[in-house]
Amino acid sequence: MGYNVAIDGPAGAGKSTIAKLVAKEKGYIYVDTGAMYRALAVHFLECGIRPEDTLGIVGACKDADVSIKYQDNVQQVYLNGKNVTSRLREESVGNMASVSSAVPKVREKLLELQRGLARSEDVIMDGRDIGTNILPDADVKIYLTASVATRAKRRYDELREKGIECDYNEIARDIEERDRRDMSRETAPLKQAEDAVLVDSSEMTIEEVVKEIIRHCR
Ligand code: C5P
Repeated sequence: MGYNVAIDGPAGAGKSTIAKLVAKEKGYIYVDTGAMYRALAVHFLECGIRPEDTLGIVGACKDADVSIKYQDNVQQVYLNGKNVTSRLREESVGNMASVSSAVPKVREKLLELQRGLARSEDVIMDGRDIGTNILPDADVKIYLTASVATRAKRRYDELREKGIECDYNEIARDIEERDRRDMSRETAPLKQAEDAVLVDSSEMTIEEVVKEIIRHCR
């Protein structure tokens, strides 16, 4: 069994940024489970399925295979043998993933992949249900959150820095909507595990959050 650190929390709380830094410092492998849901979303979009077509999504699960490889310590996600990593951050993919991840069949598909990685390696795994459902016996569980205003502002700054026009209020609404979907779904909703450490990064720097998490690791 590897040493397992679970980081859960809502979209935009900085999980991936923080997890990558902790992984580097501690020599863990960073596992981004959101990327796996996004890879399945690419498949559903390629099949021409709309997000509200739950039956279509369930049906399309049977011919989708997601796997992971590491290239210079960076996770690469394969869909049916093809590297789809560069497509995962597309807006349409994020929207589809946010909706299709509520479908039990979709979650079932990724369960063994995630558990298998944690069995064989020392990992820091980020997602929504890692501490509650995927790795209930994780050595360390962190629930990383931040206020909607903070998360929206960070996202706004990030997009503006890339030269992308955007509207703060629209971003905030989108974040609230994603929170609602993640927290209210029936299968493995986003919530803090009873034995998870709560870290609210609203008023913290990246360095402070990394330090706080490392304090709980062996
Ligand atoms: O974290 P990220 O935004 O990449 O995740 C994409 C989508 O996948 C999220 O909107 C979330 O609904 C879903 N997800 C999930 N469970 C996970 C990781 C992500 O439901 N463990």
